[in-house]
Amino acid sequence: MIVLGIETSCDDTAVAVLDSEASVLANVVSSQDKIHQRFGGIVPELASRRHMESITPIVNDAISRAGITLNDIELIAVTRGPGLIGSLLVGFCYAKSLSYTLGIPYVGVDHMAGHLLSAFLEHSTPAFPYIALIVSGGTTSLFKVEDFNRFDLLGRTRDDAAGEAFDKIARYLELGYPGGPVVSKRAEGGDTTALHLPRAWLEEGSLDFSFSGLKTSVINHCHRIMQVDHLTEQQIMNTCASFQQAVIDVLIEKTSTAAQINDIRTVVLGGGVSANRSLREQMSLRCGNEELDLFLPSVENCTDNGAMIAFAGVQQYWAGDRGANDDDVYSRSHLGR
Ligand code: KG4
Repeated sequence: MIVLGIETSCDDTAVAVLDSEASVLANVVSSQDKIHQRFGGIVPELASRRHMESITPIVNDAISRAGITLNDIELIAVTRGPGLIGSLLVGFCYAKSLSYTLGIPYVGVDHMAGHLLSAFLEHSTPAFPYIALIVSGGTTSLFKVEDFNRFDLLGRTRDDAAGEAFDKIARYLELGYPGGPVVSKRAEGGDTTALHLPRAWLEEGSLDFSFSGLKTSVINHCHRIMQVDHLTEQQIMNTCASFQQAVIDVLIEKTSTAAQINDIRTVVLGGGVSANRSLREQMSLRCGNEELDLFLPSVENCTDNGAMIAFAGVQQYWAGDRGANDDDVYSRSHLGR
């Protein structure tokens, strides 16, 4: 079955083509980073306008790279939520129209399901059940994944997502956007123990996250220094390193606890923040020490892409799911507790 995957939940217009073996024939991502850079964050109206301009050329590009024609497509999988409503609507309406025009089915996919299954786009794939840590600009969540269509939410952030905290710290320090890559680059030259920053463990046994207190601590720390002097380059690097380490400590500890509590030996990472080199290294070390099998998808498959949506969509289709004409998008994930 040839599947077209469309993802427009946030600021990337992403389209992929998968074949019946779930091999990726094309995976095209058009980034909007340059548009949003000068605002230090995503401007929703600009994001949806850009999706409108990009969607047709990106679909055409993906189809031509895959070496197929529109008429070869047998199923369309499209992100239905969560995300920015205006952005989601562009991809969702496009997919519904295309499905109607071509006379083929479509399925609406939860963006989180795409991240949770993105490890299946790699050569070596995890066995069920596994613990998945999904950590991006829009979410930080822990799931128990039972099979291709059964996801148990174990914990999620109560305020900022980890990537959002990276982006906000970068904006405060005027380092650029997106914040994750620039903060992690500065962190390389810093001391992770220079600042004493809080880790929000929350109630005993809780697998929820909270990053807003950490973000406020970092801002207060910098603000105190900046009242008398500007931050030196070394102070900026120390701040980035200490902040990044505080985020990583909590992500690793809670993932390990989730595996222990559920007696599961396999861990999968997903979402844009899992591109973070220190997180990958430290998570590998910890999983090695605890004899957990860790699956770290490539950076291309961790960040938003159409292939993960196509893959999750096929699983839903085989389980009997079909999109209806009057289905709508949604802003909060449906994969709940
Ligand atoms: O999953 P993603 O591509 O998009 C959504 O959030 O939906 O993730 C983007 C997020 C941004 O917040 C970005 O700052 C963060 O991932 N990110 C990183 C790194 N690369 C991207 N955070 C920490 N370290 C990185 N190397």
